[in-house]
Amino acid sequence: MSSLSALDGPRIKARDESGRPYETIRIDRLTPVIGAEISGVDLAAPTNHQMDEIHRALAEHLVIFFRDQHMSQQQHLDFGRRFGELHLHPAAPHEPGHPELMVIKADENSLRANGEGWHSDVSCDEYPPMGSILYIKECPPAGGDTLFASMYAAYDALSDRMKAYLEGLTAEHSGEHVYRGMFAKEGVADKASYPRAEHPVVRRHPVTGRRALYVNRGFTTRILGIPRDESDGILRYLYEHMENPLFQCRFRWQPNSVAFWDNRCAQHRAMWDYWPHRRYGNRVTVKGERPV
Ligand code: SIN
Repeated sequence: MSSLSALDGPRIKARDESGRPYETIRIDRLTPVIGAEISGVDLAAPTNHQMDEIHRALAEHLVIFFRDQHMSQQQHLDFGRRFGELHLHPAAPHEPGHPELMVIKADENSLRANGEGWHSDVSCDEYPPMGSILYIKECPPAGGDTLFASMYAAYDALSDRMKAYLEGLTAEHSGEHVYRGMFAKEGVADKASYPRAEHPVVRRHPVTGRRALYVNRGFTTRILGIPRDESDGILRYLYEHMENPLFQCRFRWQPNSVAFWDNRCAQHRAMWDYWPHRRYGNRVTVKGERPV
């Protein structure tokens, strides 16, 4: 039997439900650290007061979920635009006539599904997305969940020595190895090049001021300014650390559910465990700022 006990791993502090109560929406948390289901709002026509509270809920819970929503493509885009300018994906297919409306689809003909590994969306962009709003319309009979992990909780649980080591380090993020050839089967031709960027390994959230780990298995290729083998070792440790279930929540989709996640402080991973069944929806992605 292992001699490891819970005390050998990270201990996280449950965040209290403090602060002002919500007046126009209802919040049901999935876990103490990440995720909340929101009810009492129609995303096709939210009031200004509800929008303010949705902004606040996203900052407090990192990913927020809505059930039984009925939005047209235009209403989905309009909802996204209320959070900022929309992001254009550098590679993925989109709905006809709507380049900002990414298609998320896997079915019996798929060789892969979007977002199967842990990642923060398009972190290879110089200005990576602040948030993504995924509206799933068709679900498999079982499976197809999405997992989310708090990068605040992952950062907070590091030792002070590791935090000091990571301070000031930057990492390279690249889209080349991710996107080249990825959507060929969907008829999307490759581009001459894909984005590449350098971002701090630990970033400060522009709204909450909290620190979050900002490296991910999908896009991060190396930590800069240290030997390659050291970078590989540190990244391997950070990836294993941040994938601890203590920092996670898991969302079970139903048709017409929406998930809105903050890419600046959360990573996600989609489960493709439902082949040959079909899962289909659209993602609207909101542009973000340069990570600092
Ligand atoms: C993604 O946007 O990474 C896909 C997430 C999902 O399909 O659940």
